[in-house]
Amino acid sequence: MTMKYDRVYNFSAGPSMLPLEVLEKVQAELLNYNGSGQSVMEMSHRSKEFIKIAEDAEANLRKLLNIPDNYKVLFLQGGGTLQFSMVPLNLLRNSKKADYIVTGTWAKKAYKEATKFGDIKVAASSEADTFTWIPKLKKEDFREDADYVYITDNNTIYGTEYNYVPDTGDIPLVADMSSNILSREFDVTKFGLIWAGAQKNVAPAGVTIVIVREDLIGHADASVPTYLDYKVHDEADSMYNTPPCFSLYVAGEVFKHLLENGGVAAKEAANKEKAAILYDYIDSSEMFKCPVAKEDRSLMNVVFVTGDADLDKKFVAEAKAAGMVNLNGHRSIGGMRASIYNAMPKEGVEALVAFMKKFEEENA
Ligand SMILES: Cc1ncc(COP(=O)(O)O)c(C=O)c1O
Repeated sequence: MTMKYDRVYNFSAGPSMLPLEVLEKVQAELLNYNGSGQSVMEMSHRSKEFIKIAEDAEANLRKLLNIPDNYKVLFLQGGGTLQFSMVPLNLLRNSKKADYIVTGTWAKKAYKEATKFGDIKVAASSEADTFTWIPKLKKEDFREDADYVYITDNNTIYGTEYNYVPDTGDIPLVADMSSNILSREFDVTKFGLIWAGAQKNVAPAGVTIVIVREDLIGHADASVPTYLDYKVHDEADSMYNTPPCFSLYVAGEVFKHLLENGGVAAKEAANKEKAAILYDYIDSSEMFKCPVAKEDRSLMNVVFVTGDADLDKKFVAEAKAAGMVNLNGHRSIGGMRASIYNAMPKEGVEALVAFMKKFEEENA
């Protein structure tokens, strides 16, 4: 397989592929950004050039996701993991109760972290079935006085994704969208807070996006460390301290690229097409199986196994030799996982399916 610049099809779950056009633009601008005589890497975050980069990134994200004015957009550091603490530290504001739906490793980590700060309940869990499905909950399943309900919208490791937005009534719904933000359309107003690390669908690792309804800001206890209070970042337009400048700049370029190519709706159609190519083949195969309930399958992370750990290893090694890398499942569950985020071209998925067919024939 020959790709431009001898690049491979990279199925990594994160950090992951970025659009080639964006990488080329970043490369062209690397030494002298927009006539400034500097790289963005060398630029003061207080300079007019960088402030414009940050403002444009926010405006374009607002356009892409149709974010209403009563929601704040924050660009933070600390990755997804810091949000496991920031969410409870800011949102446990009345009863100090929160209900979590546990659908995988990241949901469980978020739940465990929150138990340090309040009365946290597991509203439902699919752990007994190795997280192969998504619980379907109704308003009555949550504690009436919960300060928020928490979900992991796409489960990167187990390859499941919510195909519905849980109705939580007046209780704010918090969603970790680290591995599916910008992959499909959704209604921001159904959520109190959405957050996402950048390193899957958005940018190189560094920036974490938080989209939060303004009435949920400003409730952190005085003892909460300054950096962990959303209000501090909101009041400083995400410039309270030095932001992850380069990651934010690339995120901004990815947002522009999305807007120039039909926005989230066009990506959703392309992602559905790519996922169908792969799942349809897996379902027709004698060798490969997807353990996930059909209605809960992720558009972004496709997990599959042969049922034989040695054969799985052989598959991953031979795929790598054929220019398709990072197809191993998460180290905690093994098997295979093809992460087919926004930047993975359809040709990459077609090449993978052709390779799987050949492998199945050769190893039947
Ligand atoms: C859904 C989800 N949430 C949270 C995280 C943790 O993110 P980070 O490594 O940025 O802390 C990940 C990482 O892969 C993830 O996939």
